[in-house]
Amino acid sequence: MTDTPKAEKYAHLQQMRARSQAGGGADRIAKQHKAGKLTARERLDLLLDNGSFRELDAFVVQRSRDFGMDKPENQILGDSVVTGWGTINGRLVYVYSQDFTVFGGSLSEVHAAKIVKIMEMAMKSGAPVIGLNDSGGARIQEGVVSLGGYADIFLRNTLASGVIPQISAILGPCAGGAVYSPALTDFIFMVKNTSYMFVTGPDVVKSVTHEEVSFEELGGASVHSTISGVCHMAAENEQDCLFLIRELLTYLPQNNMEDPPFKPPKDDPLRSDPRLNEIIPDSPNKPYDIKEVIQMIVDDGQFFEIHEHFAPNIVVGFARLGGYSVGIVANQPMVLAGVLDIDASEKAARFIRFCDCFNIPLVTFEDVPGFMPGTKQEHGGIIRAGAKLLYAYCEATVPKLTVITRKAYGGAYDVMSSKHIRGDLNLAWPTAEIAVMGPDGAVSIIFRRELAEAEDPIAKKAELVAMYREKFANPYVAAGRGYIDDVIMPSETRPRLINALNALQNKRDSNPPKKHGNIPL
Ligand code: HXC
Repeated sequence: MTDTPKAEKYAHLQQMRARSQAGGGADRIAKQHKAGKLTARERLDLLLDNGSFRELDAFVVQRSRDFGMDKPENQILGDSVVTGWGTINGRLVYVYSQDFTVFGGSLSEVHAAKIVKIMEMAMKSGAPVIGLNDSGGARIQEGVVSLGGYADIFLRNTLASGVIPQISAILGPCAGGAVYSPALTDFIFMVKNTSYMFVTGPDVVKSVTHEEVSFEELGGASVHSTISGVCHMAAENEQDCLFLIRELLTYLPQNNMEDPPFKPPKDDPLRSDPRLNEIIPDSPNKPYDIKEVIQMIVDDGQFFEIHEHFAPNIVVGFARLGGYSVGIVANQPMVLAGVLDIDASEKAARFIRFCDCFNIPLVTFEDVPGFMPGTKQEHGGIIRAGAKLLYAYCEATVPKLTVITRKAYGGAYDVMSSKHIRGDLNLAWPTAEIAVMGPDGAVSIIFRRELAEAEDPIAKKAELVAMYREKFANPYVAAGRGYIDDVIMPSETRPRLINALNALQNKRDSNPPKKHGNIPL
């Protein structure tokens, strides 16, 4: 090589690059397209700003020598994952994109090492990691070496948790223990009909439980975004999925030491919205859509909802208020009257903890009749799940703003970012009802004897309910004790929240020093 002319060396580099870019070759790329999927590199082109991708480890090759893996045609440059960094809206991100055209995107020793390398770089430079997953799982020819590679990644996922945002897109198969890397990240995006996640596939399910189930029914995007809650967003296609990830990042800081990006608002921070004064129905049992309330209040009506179809009785997502990125948690009276059940508690708890990790203030809209009763909930562990939500709110030290729009009953009053658990600004609309329970239930218990002795129990109950409502089902008992900082007109909500976010910009609060708490998992 010493007397090789420079030009030849340069040409050789170009050939090596072309070989690496070709992945598993034209036939397998055609097969990938035929399956309705993009290639690893096409995905990165859509995800990242034009021309910003810088690849690492393009010349790495797999090391297995068994089962014919030593043949030259199995030395595919870069192996089965493309890694590196690039930018999204000008901000640095680290990425990996599994290449299904190379050994089905399966995870070899070097594949894992490539991912670990970019994760460690991301941790050191404080930038998010985005993983695009499309893989047949452990490289079967490598055995335990591949399993070790997974564990190396799981460790990095865990160490990076709460330090840098980690986002996973599932764009094909993701099965077996491989699911646990995405599951350790902050957000999982899936694509309908072309992606699936499960610990054991349909064949194993059939042999163990005798259930017949398709890939989609077992672990498709629809199932995971509605029933299991594993998936935070189910996109119609890969382009949409990658676009949504770009959008999500606009609300997030690069790491836990930064504030989220401020976007100077076009929407007037002082804008009041008289429509809000009309939104609460006269009957306390009539629902209204809390998402309409959110949209009327936040900048430009833009709400980036997370987990839209999972536990829809609570709504969580990102928005901006006066340019500040905020995490919104809101009971949804339209679904199960906004009751807190196991799924809703866990959904909100996880979201709150994410926001707290990454310095994103929390805005809570509360209209909650309490926790869901019943054996299904009690036996399923509503006590443990509700405690997670309580723990998450108690532990959070970011600015916490609460608006009680209507019901704040029972334990749910305490849980939903109340003053007692370090709410910074707790507001109530005049329609708020803050009590141990709804007037109907309360009257049935405390006036049981009077009702039993009444000549007309129905009329008596109506009279007592009205009396109870007048006395307790309002915000002024709580406001009289300072549990509510102010009672405001609904139309004033936006300027009041933005004003509070400004006031709390330099908020400092902390928890006692400890290794870590013991959230009731
Ligand atoms: C090596 C693999 C592979 C694997 C697929 N391939 N999976 N090579 N290790 N795990 C190769 C195939 O041999 C094939 O090579 C190419 O990838 C494409 O695979 P196809 O089967 O043709 O594709 P498709 O029909 O789309 O089916 C995709 C699939 C299937 C459903 C993922 O390939 C499959 O079932 N693979 C095995 C999945 C699996 O059991 N993995 C181990 C899970 S256990 P050619 O040369 O023909 O193109 C696990 C443990 C992790 O992952 C534990 C972590 C703690």
